Amino acid sequence: MTRTASPLGGDAGLREAGHGARHVAIIMDGNGRWATKRFLPRAVGHQRGVEAVRRLVRAARGMGIEALTLYAFSTENWRRPEDEIADLMGLLKRFILSDLDEFAANGIRLKIIGDYKAFPADVVELIEGALARTAGNSGTTLAVALNYGSQDEIARAAARAAAKGAITPETIEAELDTADMPPLDLLIRTSGEIRLSNFLLWQAAYAELWFTDVLWPDFEPAHLEQALAHFAGRERRFGGR
Ligand code: FPP
Repeated sequence: MTRTASPLGGDAGLREAGHGARHVAIIMDGNGRWATKRFLPRAVGHQRGVEAVRRLVRAARGMGIEALTLYAFSTENWRRPEDEIADLMGLLKRFILSDLDEFAANGIRLKIIGDYKAFPADVVELIEGALARTAGNSGTTLAVALNYGSQDEIARAAARAAAKGAITPETIEAELDTADMPPLDLLIRTSGEIRLSNFLLWQAAYAELWFTDVLWPDFEPAHLEQALAHFAGRERRFGGR
């Protein structure tokens, strides 16, 4: 099937996206193992993970991707030790503080999927400021999944659909956290694990899946290009023949 190329926002202007993938999502796994292999604290793995996020967001703008969704904190991650949760919150805050100007300047629209309001009040305040500041941007959408679990998202969407009337695939889909995003084309997971871990289960119904052994802190834009090339070579039939 042929997908139409999509316009790119930000300073990249309009450009043909030959691969045709509009929406790419990533399960960024392997920060802990990256650190352990080097006898470093897990927190260092997460720090290097944020650097990989920054590299990728910068590169994605030039690759013709309309939306990038990153799994940063799952509903299950609350089971991690308190100090690791605090490290992740601290990294998220620093990431917003240090990168928001760059997003704003480059037309990136920040979006959160998941119930981020369960986060500490100072983090929620920062997030809401960043959402408001980038809401009018029309370039790449960067969706960060925070306190996100797909089953929770589907249950919330179904409840909202039911409150409005009939429950159908269409009415549920219209209530998902991703409702205003293009359909998911490509789902990537790093670190060699072959599972979806409660991430975008509904949206992945027809997505291409790409798994790599690379640990997240080592993930480079070239790996995304590899995944996009794989995507471009797939024939997607969406259940037809
Ligand atoms: C998986 O590694 C990664 C996470 C649980 C969190 C991902 C978070 C970041 C990359 C940093 C924060 C993100 C942003 C957007 C600021 P793991 O700890 O499960 O690794 P392991 O499986 O090797 O232990």
